[in-house]
Formats: sequence, structure tokens, C-alpha cells
Amino acid sequence: MESRYDFIVIGSGIAGLFFAQKVANLVPGAKVAVITKKGETESNTNYAQGGIATVMSGVDSFDSHIEDTLKSGAGLCKRKIVEEIVKNGPKVIQKLVDIGVRFTKEKGEFDLGREGGHSSKRVVHAGDLTGREIERALLNACRKNKNVDIFRNTIALDLITYNHNGHWRCGGAYTFSRHKRIFRSFYAPVTMLATGGVGQVYYNTTNPDIATGDGIAMAYRAGARIANLEFIQFHPTALYDPDGKAFLISEAVRGEGAILINLAGEQFMKKYHPQKELAARDIVARAIDSELKESGDNCVYLDISHKKASFVKKRFTNIYKECLKRGFDITKEPIPVVPSAHYNCGGIVSDLYGQTDIEGMYVCGESAFTGMHGANRLASNSLLEAVVMSDYSTNVAAEFFRKNSFPETPKADKWLHSSIVRRKDKIVISHDKFELRKLMSDFMGIVRTSSRLEMAHNHVKLIAKEIDSFYLSHPSSYDIIELRNIALVANLIIRCALRRKESRGLHYIIDYPNTDDKKGRHNTIIKPPNYKHLGRKNAR
Ligand code: FAD
Ligand code: SIN
Repeated sequence: MESRYDFIVIGSGIAGLFFAQKVANLVPGAKVAVITKKGETESNTNYAQGGIATVMSGVDSFDSHIEDTLKSGAGLCKRKIVEEIVKNGPKVIQKLVDIGVRFTKEKGEFDLGREGGHSSKRVVHAGDLTGREIERALLNACRKNKNVDIFRNTIALDLITYNHNGHWRCGGAYTFSRHKRIFRSFYAPVTMLATGGVGQVYYNTTNPDIATGDGIAMAYRAGARIANLEFIQFHPTALYDPDGKAFLISEAVRGEGAILINLAGEQFMKKYHPQKELAARDIVARAIDSELKESGDNCVYLDISHKKASFVKKRFTNIYKECLKRGFDITKEPIPVVPSAHYNCGGIVSDLYGQTDIEGMYVCGESAFTGMHGANRLASNSLLEAVVMSDYSTNVAAEFFRKNSFPETPKADKWLHSSIVRRKDKIVISHDKFELRKLMSDFMGIVRTSSRLEMAHNHVKLIAKEIDSFYLSHPSSYDIIELRNIALVANLIIRCALRRKESRGLHYIIDYPNTDDKKGRHNTIIKPPNYKHLGRKNAR
């Protein structure tokens, strides 16, 4: 089955939906397809709690937000990118408001939250369900435009690439539909990858099931460079609930005065950093990890019960209700928490306009590597980057669309896909998935060692090979498609980590405990095997 569109957007989080609604307005009559692998709202965006970091108050400044971002990034942020994104913050907040996002206000002004590493209150939010509100408004805007078609339960498997006058172009994507089990080629001159994060590569994660790194894996297979995957951010405070789904306890809770205590009742952050609970995320996560390793306990506790119950219930309505459902009344007792894989600071190498190594293929949001976050993302800078990039890249992609003709059906690169014959062998998939994710959590977590990295690398290479051959000889299913991507991304994370012989930001390795500014102040760039052979136009 084949379809032709002018723009294909893979992913329906903040990055994909912002792009889709804007490009459909910018290029009158253009047909836009949004391809998304589950329901329209299922994305990391939908679970974002804290909000969007933006300079909004008179006592704050762009310089201060820029400095906080650079400090958190531990010497690896690209200053120009940081400046551009931070200075665009208020403008994109206004654009979101114009689209219909209802952020929380107090006396007519945005109510600003505080989070770790920020020297001012600057997080614009919609209660503690910021992402859900953004998804609602952006989806509404897309649904209102008759030129935007949304394909739910449709997973992109690989990108369609073809040779255009000696250089490599992207001409769309191959997809597989979950319920009808149909393969389909979507052709388009512009493909936007907005597939989000990689949290599911780890066993403990705050990310929903969709976060399997598909965009990064597809881009790598298509010949694009990947960068800085060693910098996986662990959120310090996910609810510790061994029997339930992961649930985040927002950093904004610490911003409102919650303290971290160990089982002995000690407020341990005092020992680790003068900013205590509001130190940067890597520091708090490492401190918790160290407390747990020392004590052998399963979790530490986050306590906001000293605040007025009415305040807690109003400011953190969703967190209060969800914790209550799971047996914890946060207005009366501390919450058990553990660090969990949360965010990927690296991704597909691109500029601020989403341009990648492959012409016609753009990337936005968490899948992209622009240099904004360096070695450690500052809290609530992710939604900000996603929406600024999405805004910028729409203009560039629209220009590319206007200037370039597109073949009826591009003569596509060879594509390998699995068969559609039904045969049940799920146990292999679930076994490999468990093993891979557990291995990544145990060996590639907050504190690393060279020998554990080597062991993880050897294991992952073997499992990845097994999964690849399984992929080619067994029926297609979401599980095997995602597992193949998880295995590839796990391998890329380890390869990045092996290259960094120092500790910096989120990459802490016992064998090299210091930051080496002479040798380590560079990004880790991984070129795919087919990189050399492809002529490129956009390479940066
Ligand atoms: P996503 O929102 O993850 O969207 C990706 C989309 O791609 C999804 O629709 C998914 O289904 C789809 N997709 C993926 N692969 C495929 C495929 N192969 N085929 C088809 N579709 C596919 N950041 C902040 O700045 N502030 C916060 O307060 C904040 N809170 C967070 C709380 C939680 C619990 C989590 C998990 C993250 C939080 N983050 C926060 C990070 C932030 O939410 C994400 O980085 C951001 O939402 C990413 O947006 P995105 O559009 O790039 O990706
Ligand atoms: C949170 O609310 O703690 C998440 C913020 C973020 O990931 O930026």
C-alpha cells in the first residue's frame, strides 16, 4: 500500500504536533500526515508535569537562564544554540497560548514554578499536568485543519532514502499498522522525525512505553550521525512502586520545599551540595544512588507533608491523587522515591532548524541533538527546546518543499522487513527485552565502570544480532520492531559511553572520576557504517 503527502510527521508529541499544525497553515493546501504509533496523545509530552522554563518575571533575565543552562550542561552546551532557544522562550509561550494552551495564572500573571539548577522561579506550567494540556491544545489545532491526517496505531519502521543527483535524500517512511497488520509506504519530500526519547531502553524509567528510541535507530540505519548518547538523565524522584507503572514526582515538588530523607530520617542532601534538594539533577540522582548503595535500602523518601494540605492538593492535584490511589497520602506522609531513566541529552545530529545529514529529513524535540543540553539538561528546558526547534524548522522545511520537486515514487533504497506470516514466538521477544533493559539499568546507570561498560557492550552486541535475525525471519509485530530499535540504541549508548574517558555531567565513571577539560570538551559523534558512502548536502 502506498500514500503520498507533502509533509510526513512521525510522532504526535509537542514537537510533531506543533510542526504539523504550523506547516499546514504556512503552506496553504499542503497535505500533512501525522503518523503515530499508539493513540494521538501517547507521548512523553503527555506526562510532562513541571512545565516550560522561560524568562517571564521582572527579577529574572535571559542572561541568568543562559548561565544556568550552561552551568548544568557542564561545558558541553553550544552557547549560540542556548542563547537562541532561551531568548525565544517568551515568544513560543505566547504562540502556545494563541493556539489555546491554558497555563496556570495567579492574578493575571503566569504562576512560575521553581526547579533544580534554576536561580529564579521561571517554569510556566498548567497545574501539574502541563504536558497533557499542551497535547490537548495542539491536537485540537491539528484536528481543525482538514489538510492534516492523523494515522494512529501506525508505527514507522524505517525511512525511505534515495539517491538524488549524487546525494542522499529522504523520501518518506515505511510503516506497519498495529491492528490491520498492513505495511505501507508513505512518500513525501519532507519527513519530520519527532519520535521522542529512549527511556524504555532502561528497566526503570519515567517514560511511557512509546519511548523506544525508534527515530534515533531509523536515522542511524538511514545514514545519519548520532551524538552524545552517554548523557542519559536519571530523574531523582520517580515513585518507588515495584508493582505499579512508573510515576514521576515532579521536581517542582522540591521547588515548593519538599525535602529528601533516608530511611534513618536524615536530610542527606546537606552532605552533598550547598543547594541541597535544588542542586542540578545529576547531583541529586547520584546522591540518592550513593545513599541506596551505602544503606542497601530500596528507596529514599521525599517529604512535603510539612506544607499546608490545601496548598499541596491545589498545586499538585494529579500527583496527590495518583499517590493516594497507590496508598500514599502526600499531605501526611513522605513519598518513597528512586531515580529513573528520564531523558536523553543526545540524539540525531541536527541544527536548530532540524536539518540533519540527510536532505529532506528533519528532526525536532527529544530525538534531536542540537547542543542545547550539553552533558546534563536543565529542568524544563526540554519542552522549550522542542517547541522552539519545531517553530524554526517549519519555516526551513516549508522553504525546502517549495524549492524542490519530488519524484512520483522515489526509487527507494533496499529495505529489509520481516514477513507478515503469523507465528507466535513471543517468549523470545519478552526474554530479550527484559534482559536488555535490565542490563542497561544495572551496567549503564548513574554510576559506571569501564569493566561494566565492556561487559554490557559484549552482551548487547550478541543480543542485538539475535534480535536482528529474529526480526528478518519472524512475523512483524510492534514488539519486535521496537525491540530491534531498543537493542540498536542500547548499543549506541554504550559506544558513546566507552569513548568518554572522563566524568562529566550525567556520565560518571569510577575509573575516570575527574572532568578532563583538555581531552573531554567535545561531543561524542557516532557515524553509521553507510555514512561515508552517502553524498550529503546538509552535513554540519
Ligand atoms: P514525545 O512527546 O515523546 O512524542 C514522541 C511521539 O512519537 C509519540 O507520539 C510516539 O508515539 C511517537 N513515536 C515514537 N516512535 C514512533 C514510530 N516508530 N512510529 C510512529 N510514531 C512514533 N520536559 C520539560 O521540559 N518539562 C517537564 O515538565 C517535563 N516533564 C516530564 C515528565 C515525564 C514523566 C517525562 C517522561 C518527561 C518529561 N519531560 C519534561 C521531558 C519532555 O516531556 C520530553 O522531552 C518532550 O515531551 C519530548 O517531546 P517530543 O515531541 O520530542 O517527543
Ligand atoms: C519534572 O517535573 O520534574 C520534570 C521536569 C523535566 O523533566 O524537565
